[in-house]
Amino acid sequence: MTQATAATLAIDGGSPVFATPVAFMKPGLLPQDVEAAHQVLKSGMLRSAKKCEELEQRFARASGARHALTCANGTCALQLAYGTLLEPGDEVLVPAWTYIATVSMVVAAGLKPVWVDALEDTMQIDVNDAAGKVTSKTRAIAATHLYGMPVDVHAVQQLAGTHNLKVVYDCAQSHLATVDGRGLGEFGDVCTYSFYATKNLGTGEGGMVTVNDDTLAYDIALLRSHGETEKYLHERVGFNYRMNDITGAIGCSRLDRLLDETNARRRAADHYDRVLNSIQGLVPPGRTKGADSAWHLYTARLDLDQFTCDRDTFTRALNAEGVPTAVHYPRSLTHQPAFKGLVTEHPPVAESLSSRVFCLPMHHELDGATIDRIGQAIAKVASAFRR
Ligand SMILES: Cc1ncc(COP(=O)(O)O)c(C=O)c1O
Repeated sequence: MTQATAATLAIDGGSPVFATPVAFMKPGLLPQDVEAAHQVLKSGMLRSAKKCEELEQRFARASGARHALTCANGTCALQLAYGTLLEPGDEVLVPAWTYIATVSMVVAAGLKPVWVDALEDTMQIDVNDAAGKVTSKTRAIAATHLYGMPVDVHAVQQLAGTHNLKVVYDCAQSHLATVDGRGLGEFGDVCTYSFYATKNLGTGEGGMVTVNDDTLAYDIALLRSHGETEKYLHERVGFNYRMNDITGAIGCSRLDRLLDETNARRRAADHYDRVLNSIQGLVPPGRTKGADSAWHLYTARLDLDQFTCDRDTFTRALNAEGVPTAVHYPRSLTHQPAFKGLVTEHPPVAESLSSRVFCLPMHHELDGATIDRIGQAIAKVASAFRR
């Protein structure tokens, strides 16, 4: 049981729980990653080549997909998915509670986003809400496995089966997450990944698309590289969304230890759950049945009725105790100016989460003793602001 203390908050001049702040994440490279990149640099073969191919083959196996295609980042991975599966004007069911790219690429592809709310407990897309928003023009559902936690893929696939919808899963935060022990690549039409520097598999910039259909894989490969079927023969208009081999080599090197690091995140999340459950007013993230999260982020919720402060005051006090936090996200997507004119409603759970969530430090080196002390800091702040 975490003990609440009546000590003066660090933000008010008291001593912080951590004299040196805890690391929020550990995005750094190890010497072997640097060496892998160095080998490519020395070879002079900088374009997409053997290392990208190796990453594709290994990532496909690791995520349970038949094909994996490297690309420049997670945003263009989404653009490749929407661009091959859908036609301008199609309606796409999208989460109101996710990172902007999941939906901005829907808009960039000339598709119409239809906003779907989040579930309070897991904060993932609410498939019942999605079902109520299907129209004769709905052609797809895009779902993000947010924070690393898989959405209810069985419910999504059932909805898609009933209405003949394409399914795109945004897996930017969920490398190696599973459902019923199966890789996420087994579900849906296309899965997209980001290897942005802070992601569980971070290469700086980078991305991946996984698919199981051979024709779709071919179409995505074409769209990724100028629609080129043979040298200087372009069958369709495409892009240059290729990855380079320096990035591919860093990806391969980091993939060697990704499962161990993910399992360490899972142990940390279990420990956090125990700690948070012992502090009144703090709510740990719910878990989707059968899912094993990648725990990219550990996102707690505050029961604001129990406190005299708002979320930002709470986290500022926690930061002063040496516990860094982040807010993913400070506004739901329907409140983003970029989507003005495309919003007919503000799904209420998504809107309300934006004022209650905060992310705690999460990485593979976080040990139980540190999480216990983070718990002490949270309990100290909670008791100072308790109603
Ligand atoms: C859920 C989600 N989708 C898409 C992206 C976009 O990926 P990238 O930054 O590699 O373009 C991100 C990255 O932050 C993300 O978190």
